[in-house]
Amino acid sequence: MYRTHTNGELRISDVNQQVTLCGWVQRIRNLGGMTFVDLRDRYGITQLVFDTEKDKNLAQDARALGREFVIQVVGTVAERSNKNSKMPTGDIEIIVQKLNLLNPSDLPPFTIEDDTDGGDELRMKYRYLDLRRSSVRRNLELRHRMALEVRSYMSAQNFIEVETPVLMKSTPEGARDFVVPSRMNPGQFYALPQSPQLFKQLLMVAGFDRYMQIVKCFRDEDLRADRQPEFTQIDCEMAFVDQDDVLNTFEGMTKHLFKVLKGVEFDYAFPRLPYAEAMEQYGSDKPDIRFDMKFVNLTGKVSGKGFKVFDEAEYVGGICAKGCSEYSRKELDQLTDFVKKPQIGAQGLVYIKCGTDGTFKSSVDKFYSEADLKQIASMFGAANGDLILILAGIRKKTLTALCELRLEMGNRLGLRDKNKFAPLWVVDFPLLEWDEETQRFYAMHHPFTSPKKEDVLLLDTDPGSIRANAYDLVINGVEIGGGSIRIHNDDLQQKMFKILGFTEQEAEDQFGFLMNAFKYGAPPHGGIAFGFDRWVSLFAGIDSIRDVIAFPKNNSGRDVMNDSPSTIHENQLKELNIKLDLSEKK
Ligand code: AMO
Repeated sequence: MYRTHTNGELRISDVNQQVTLCGWVQRIRNLGGMTFVDLRDRYGITQLVFDTEKDKNLAQDARALGREFVIQVVGTVAERSNKNSKMPTGDIEIIVQKLNLLNPSDLPPFTIEDDTDGGDELRMKYRYLDLRRSSVRRNLELRHRMALEVRSYMSAQNFIEVETPVLMKSTPEGARDFVVPSRMNPGQFYALPQSPQLFKQLLMVAGFDRYMQIVKCFRDEDLRADRQPEFTQIDCEMAFVDQDDVLNTFEGMTKHLFKVLKGVEFDYAFPRLPYAEAMEQYGSDKPDIRFDMKFVNLTGKVSGKGFKVFDEAEYVGGICAKGCSEYSRKELDQLTDFVKKPQIGAQGLVYIKCGTDGTFKSSVDKFYSEADLKQIASMFGAANGDLILILAGIRKKTLTALCELRLEMGNRLGLRDKNKFAPLWVVDFPLLEWDEETQRFYAMHHPFTSPKKEDVLLLDTDPGSIRANAYDLVINGVEIGGGSIRIHNDDLQQKMFKILGFTEQEAEDQFGFLMNAFKYGAPPHGGIAFGFDRWVSLFAGIDSIRDVIAFPKNNSGRDVMNDSPSTIHENQLKELNIKLDLSEKK
């Protein structure tokens, strides 16, 4: 037997026991004639003691150990004179009688401790060492517990997990596909699934009624902190349901996960906020409602005073930051610089200070009298001591900029506490989005999303204003999941493809199999998919999903540990009938 116990296990009640432990050397300290070694494994750290007076050779061997050496020791559990209450094993230590070096180690390129000295790129290159750190390991343990909970909860609700193909036909879900050439079918390609969307719908046609799968999805898109080219979804679909059924089912799952994994109980129904209101109040379809600070729309209400910026803007709106009227010139300049950053794109920032003494001061004093300012402040319900921040410009852009400003103020005021959770459903998304550049409609969610019954007639006259039976679960400003009630009849689906600019032939080529399936008794159905990585990172209280993925890619989509993507051998290309032409890239 390699070991009798793990390194997180032994307690004062084990004193005098003879044990065998294995693990990695975390730290060595020499104090007089004693050598102390911290021995680490997945379960914790146990202190080993080597005493020169008792066994000189053994102590010498211990002194020759290095960081990350893999060792096995046999020894006796003893009570520590100098107890460490911060460690679960801190009451005991092992008086070692036998040391067996299982494998030496090169000096690791960074320290394997919670606060490591390794930069991001270095840690990713040596990810197997990074994963030895307890902070990273804890994230994967949380991920594991969460997957277990999801499966057992869903199974108890009659969902069954069905695996779907990884080599499949391309499904349009808004991102580019990763493609895989087929050797046996020269010139033809599989696509890796952006999601199992079509398969889960076909499973409903097949009568599976309640499907779930924890599944890898692949999307070739620009990467950010919350996006990986391969990520994991909790993918779900149900038959014979309407929107309320789906939302209630998954609100149940969400509440269960919060209770079991975070000890957080929600004794209320999650708010359901229509998309249009989310945009008007927060400038975002994934509002962070941990704090209020809703937008006040001033369009048309502050014009006619000679201030061109407000008079000519398509949209004027602002937020009220409680207790910030004492902001200095410098702080206001910082906020102005913030909104003017190219990625935010506002032209400038107007402020009104509602002084604690009842006076009003603003950056537009030239145009607005104190009485005017007071009136504007009243629209915000502002109190003495508050600061009003206003942006103006093109509606969509200004709403987005104001959203960023609201989040920034939320951060500055400490209103975005990671231990507070504020979930909501955003509902009634538009079915279609008009793209100016290509002059055509795109599906806002995907082409299989059904329009609201009462809006179907608008398909022929005003497609842009149709609302969809589509919904997102948003928690703390993060889109955790999204789904919809699907179209389940052939006619409506064909019509949808037409609006989206597919010719009959293109629709047949890409989705013929789905259209065909719909001819054989497709039940009404709908579903949702949750971003598993995003959800784990939300629970772990970290911003980047990379920290909850064992072997993630960097922002250029590279795995720096195994150096992929990489070129392949000429013979492999030949077998696949592929000739590379990199002239343009060069
Ligand atoms: P959607 O495209 O909204 O819906 O994806 C569902 C959820 O997956 C997460 N997500 C991502 N996470 C990490 N990296 C990415 N690149 C990434 N892209 C998406 C988000 C998102 O809410 N088939 C539909 C679902 C349905 O209609 O049932 C779909 O995939 O958290």
